[in-house]
Amino acid sequence: MNSINKITRNFLNITKFANNKPIATCKFSIHDNSTFIHNIYVNKEFRNKKIGSTLLQEVEQYSARKNIENISLVAHQVSNDSLIDFYKKNGYYQTNDKINYYDDGETTYDLIKMIKRL
Ligand SMILES: CC(C)(COP(=O)(O)OP(=O)(O)OC[C@H]1O[C@@H](n2cnc3c(N)ncnc32)[C@H](O)[C@@H]1OP(=O)(O)O)[C@@H](O)C(=O)NCCC(=O)NCCS
Repeated sequence: MNSINKITRNFLNITKFANNKPIATCKFSIHDNSTFIHNIYVNKEFRNKKIGSTLLQEVEQYSARKNIENISLVAHQVSNDSLIDFYKKNGYYQTNDKINYYDDGETTYDLIKMIKRL
């Protein structure tokens, strides 16, 4: 089972279910000609079964139908290097925009902007 729900006018959520329980979700929003992916999550026991990639494809298909030109997201590189690979495997590439949102003196959170053109 699968559903796309509009949270507000521009914010959407895709949720996937197994046995009537939510197992994966992706929240995204659309502004002008761009889609921004806010988060994507697959329950641990369901990972590595292409559910995350399928969620991305569904966001892409939905966006393409709306004539959106690109999809972007921000990934946290330091704690989760392989997450960047997950997005790369799905056709997203790293932009040169390296964003340091926070720097508390102890930890710098390196955030990588990634984009896919449709
Ligand atoms: C990232 C996430 C959504 C991927 O979902 P998934 O259904 O497991 O991904 P898929 O099965 O489609 O893709 C798996 C591939 O990506 C890689 N991959 C995916 N997520 C990865 C992760 N967090 N760490 C390492 N590798 C990852 C796997 O190595 C695998 O590669 P392969 O196809 O060559 O074997 C899932 O791991 C997750 O929910 N992680 C925790 C939440 C998170 O970090 N979300 C992103 C920030 S909001």
